[in-house]
Amino acid sequence: GKRIGILTSGGDCAGLNAVIRAVVHRAVTTYSWQVLGIEEGTHGLLDRPVRHRVLLPAHVDGNILRQGGTVLGTTNKGDPFAYPMPDGTKKDRSQEIISGCKELGLDALIGIGGDGSLAILRRLAQEGGLNLVGIPKTIDNDLGLTEVSVGYDTAVAVATEALDRLQPTAASHARVMVLEVMGRDAGHIALAAGIAGGADVILLPEIPWTVDGVANRIRQIRAQGRNFALVVVSEAATLPGGGKARQEFTDGQKRYGGIGSYIGHLIAEATGAETRVTVLGHVQRGGSPNPRDRLIASAFGVHAVDLIAHGKYDRMVAWSNRKVIDVPIADAIKAYAAVEVDGTLVRTARGLGIYVGEPVA
Ligand code: F6P
Repeated sequence: GKRIGILTSGGDCAGLNAVIRAVVHRAVTTYSWQVLGIEEGTHGLLDRPVRHRVLLPAHVDGNILRQGGTVLGTTNKGDPFAYPMPDGTKKDRSQEIISGCKELGLDALIGIGGDGSLAILRRLAQEGGLNLVGIPKTIDNDLGLTEVSVGYDTAVAVATEALDRLQPTAASHARVMVLEVMGRDAGHIALAAGIAGGADVILLPEIPWTVDGVANRIRQIRAQGRNFALVVVSEAATLPGGGKARQEFTDGQKRYGGIGSYIGHLIAEATGAETRVTVLGHVQRGGSPNPRDRLIASAFGVHAVDLIAHGKYDRMVAWSNRKVIDVPIADAIKAYAAVEVDGTLVRTARGLGIYVGEPVA
């Protein structure tokens, strides 16, 4: 039998535990292999002894299918090729990770991560001769070659629910409510939740917009006799004068939130409306995975183990046309998926009268 390792890497999201559960079941129940859960992403592999535990079906049955976060822990700090040391310098610690994998005697490693983590894991695998299979997870849904990644659907559901809760209070007070959502440099969460949650304005990183365009939409709503409006702003929405909010508001530091209040202020100035701003933040990452995330997580986990059974490595499992497939990890990382400026969802939003920025020439 084989011995495989599994780790979660990068930002957490809903559905990671469902992946872990599926991998353990397929590997142990179907193939009688051993599964080692590596703790805290690649960090666990830096310590000696390597921080890990044997995962059996008994450990992953019960509740973890339903639980948010990752029972293994994760990290998005500490690129092993430029690892931040306490004295402020950076050090290449990749060989320590590779030797950590060798110490565990792994036949293969399953890495659950977004584009950044998968790129790092792939580089480690190439340099250390490790057999890697990747599973895509990110609430941002910006990984190419897969229609969805684990965590995205739940994040959209959370943002949609936030709009459902903002609407009555907006209407009661005749306010314009601004909801700032995550998504890193992509507007997928904003666009999907905005449509599903009945937003009037959706501001994305991919499509330039103007204060006039937003104000006109709000005036039009008032003229039609409605006293409130809902605005969804992606954390990396473009700024009216050009530039991206995420960079502008983070001073090079990774800090979340900011563009929403700025845009709320612009709307108040331009329309005289009373505005309030909600920054949804990490609420979008926690919580129980919804059925669709549990489903793709399960399908991804089973397929990843099957790839190992067939000796197929350097592949990422993916979702396409109602089924699970696999693609080269390198291609998936390269094929970054932004919102298509004239895609179905943007056209749908425009068809509903939602202002999603200026029409693309
Ligand atoms: O990539 C996932 C994500 O949640 C982004 O949407 C967001 O910009 C970022 O991570 C937040 O990172 P952190 O958890 O380090 O604050």
